[in-house]
Amino acid sequence: STKKLWGGRFQAQAETWVDEFGASIGFDQLMADEDLEGSLAHVKMLKKTKILNESDSDQIIAGLENLQQELHDGKLHFTVENEDIHMNLESILTDEIGPVAGKLHTGRSRNDQVATDFHLYVKNRLPKIIEEIKTIQSSLVDLADKNVETVMPGYTHLQHAQPISYGHYLMAYYSMLKRDVERFEFNMKHTDISPLGAAALAGTTFPIDRQFTADELGFDNIYTNSLDAVSDRDFALEFLSNASILMMHLSRFCEELSMWVSYEFKYIELSDQYTTGSSIMPQKKNPDMAELIRGKSGRVYGHLLGLLSTMKSLPLAYNKDLQEDKEGTFDTVKTLLPALKVFNGMISTMKVNKEKMHHATINDFSNATELADYLATKGIPFREAHGIVGQLVLKGLEEHRNLQDITMEEFKKISPLIEEDVYPVLQPEVAVARRNSYGGTGFEQVKKQIQQAKLELAEK
Ligand code: ARG
Repeated sequence: STKKLWGGRFQAQAETWVDEFGASIGFDQLMADEDLEGSLAHVKMLKKTKILNESDSDQIIAGLENLQQELHDGKLHFTVENEDIHMNLESILTDEIGPVAGKLHTGRSRNDQVATDFHLYVKNRLPKIIEEIKTIQSSLVDLADKNVETVMPGYTHLQHAQPISYGHYLMAYYSMLKRDVERFEFNMKHTDISPLGAAALAGTTFPIDRQFTADELGFDNIYTNSLDAVSDRDFALEFLSNASILMMHLSRFCEELSMWVSYEFKYIELSDQYTTGSSIMPQKKNPDMAELIRGKSGRVYGHLLGLLSTMKSLPLAYNKDLQEDKEGTFDTVKTLLPALKVFNGMISTMKVNKEKMHHATINDFSNATELADYLATKGIPFREAHGIVGQLVLKGLEEHRNLQDITMEEFKKISPLIEEDVYPVLQPEVAVARRNSYGGTGFEQVKKQIQQAKLELAEK
């Protein structure tokens, strides 16, 4: 183990295996770009405020720009002895430009440095995530457009409840994703704040200019409290929380897809591109990608719980525990982006089996509410109508007959007010069409949702 950059007050050195335990370079090198960006902003500020003279500043700026090039060319080698990305880059800078590199850290601490890098890391990745969600929203709208009049069973408790439009089902997910986008946009507001200049925890005696570094880095805002700036990670927790909710939405859709491609349902057929075969059963076509998106929601929830648990008892301000904030967040980005892409590919290539969906609404009792509503319009109190229809269902189950098979003679015995017009009401497509209340599954309502969604998507 070699002498550390902070080694002044130390007499003994840690064994390599201890260094390894404490090091974060194995993962935080993912923030190398952000670290160099942050250092450049900092040294430019030191120059502008004359905390460093021009010649020193320019040497450091040139050195950092050279490191950017070397990083880009894959020429930088990091070591565990140098612990993390911040010390590694400073150490390489020192090797390349000499002792003047030691002036870079004037008025700065690794605590505000790492917080800055981490904010930049999340900030830089949010737009791509939002874009991928919007791509899925567009695919859902396209699909909904083609399926406004595709009638399928709507479920509650996974039991046939009332017939709905498949387009309506798809637009439900569109709406969930819309809120996901809004959540990530709000997340940006809390991520777009510069911690740089908070120094170790208390600010600095140097006449730094925090607005200047914030502007350099494109931050919208500045932390007003230095203790808060270096010790909170709520922007990351919000990110993990938003990611968890998003994955939960995708996972529910995937759960339904997995069911609906099964032999028992056959509502959907997934493209060969997003399914896999079995090594033993030649007939198999497994919805692996849907299952994997469902499965991966677990690790994202885990990262949220992990960071919440890490942070729950941390005294202000910085504690080394905070180094645990990164891996889960990095992994969440690494999980989310391909999951969103695969999800979109999968839903935009799948085949909807409209006949199968429709068929499932004919031989069931999902028109029972229609009949009860019909009786209610004829003056029978709804509660009583509910009871009458319940008995008809029971009878139908015994006799293997559906409600539309009940004869007019039988209907008349229930109430002389029932007329021939009861039969069309019992057809699933009529049932759907008539649910025309705002936000309902009626075809007109679904068309309105789609129209509105198209406007929303065209906005940005
Ligand atoms: N690698 C550390 C982290 O990720 C950087 C900050 C370390 N600061 C300190 N005082 N030990 O949190």
